Amino acid sequence: MSTINRRDFIKSASSVLVAGVLPVSLIELAFAKSEQNFTFAYISDSHIQHIKGSKFVRNWDRGLIRAVAETNLMDPKPDFVIYGGDLAQLGSKPELDHGMELMSALRYDTKYVMGEHDYYLDLGEYWEKLNGPQYYSFDHKGVHFVVLNSILTYDDWTHNRWKDGEERMGVMAGLDNPNGSPFMVGKKQRKWLKKDLARVNRNTPVVVFSHSPLQKIFKGWNFWTEDAEQVQALLKPFKKVNVFYGHVHQIQYNQIGNISFHSAMATAWPWPYPSTYKQAVSHLPKLTVEMNRADPFFERDATGWQMIDIHSGNADMHYALANNTRRTLAFNKKTGRPEDTKYQGKIILPQQHY
Ligand SMILES: [Fe+2]
Ligand SMILES: [Fe+2]
Repeated sequence: MSTINRRDFIKSASSVLVAGVLPVSLIELAFAKSEQNFTFAYISDSHIQHIKGSKFVRNWDRGLIRAVAETNLMDPKPDFVIYGGDLAQLGSKPELDHGMELMSALRYDTKYVMGEHDYYLDLGEYWEKLNGPQYYSFDHKGVHFVVLNSILTYDDWTHNRWKDGEERMGVMAGLDNPNGSPFMVGKKQRKWLKKDLARVNRNTPVVVFSHSPLQKIFKGWNFWTEDAEQVQALLKPFKKVNVFYGHVHQIQYNQIGNISFHSAMATAWPWPYPSTYKQAVSHLPKLTVEMNRADPFFERDATGWQMIDIHSGNADMHYALANNTRRTLAFNKKTGRPEDTKYQGKIILPQQHY
């Protein structure tokens, strides 16, 4: 994509922003040959929640409806859409059906990532009927994409402790959750990943989608993947790897070796940062400058969207946040990591409303 086109692209994205909150990401890939440039959109964590009959929690519905509508308006049009997981709140058939019905308004091919809120009621059985396999890979215009189910856990926890799936889901759905169990990709899937990556050229850009971060941030809230290091080791031989994840409902970013990590916003609600809630030493990657989120009474507070461009394999994140300071996290070639172009090493003062 040429500079002029890119400028127009940003301009058109910004002009849509004027319409309001955009809880969606548009990702521009600008690898190698110009004819291979393309974009895809990323929507995550809608937590569609059933009340009873045909009633669902209004605000969560609205976040997803808006994201879908904005995605349909995007210019350039994304080649496909990734849904980052937690489509449902408690994984029930009405929630998944309703979520899929809202998603069906999308005009693009959509690929799904499994979230723990989709999974722990029936271990992904109904979700699979709707969306297909829980992990898979695909190639698109010179990029190798991998989708993992990173929210599995120990068999003993999954199978031997609960009177039924509802009880199991109720426990795993909590945030501050002493009876939960750490998420993991697991041996079977790691074996599959190893085999899948063996056929990929080491210079091919690799993009991985997981629901939980493939890094260890805070175990108490499952901002954590137990076998993160083993998964990272499988990705190590590749020149450029980007991991995009949902689940944390907040801005996080990190660099571990050759792998850049970026979280995406939720369409539903923001989670607090572990450091602010627990009043403990920050559990976040040192690199991450936390968002300032001062307004819990604004229902779209700390939701938003980001445009992601990956120039020559490194991701730059342009965050457009509702009623909050815009941010750009750009890959700094000198330091070899993503950094906030304005706030790195600083704190962000309370947000200004306008
Ligand atoms: Fe979530
Ligand atoms: Fe989640």
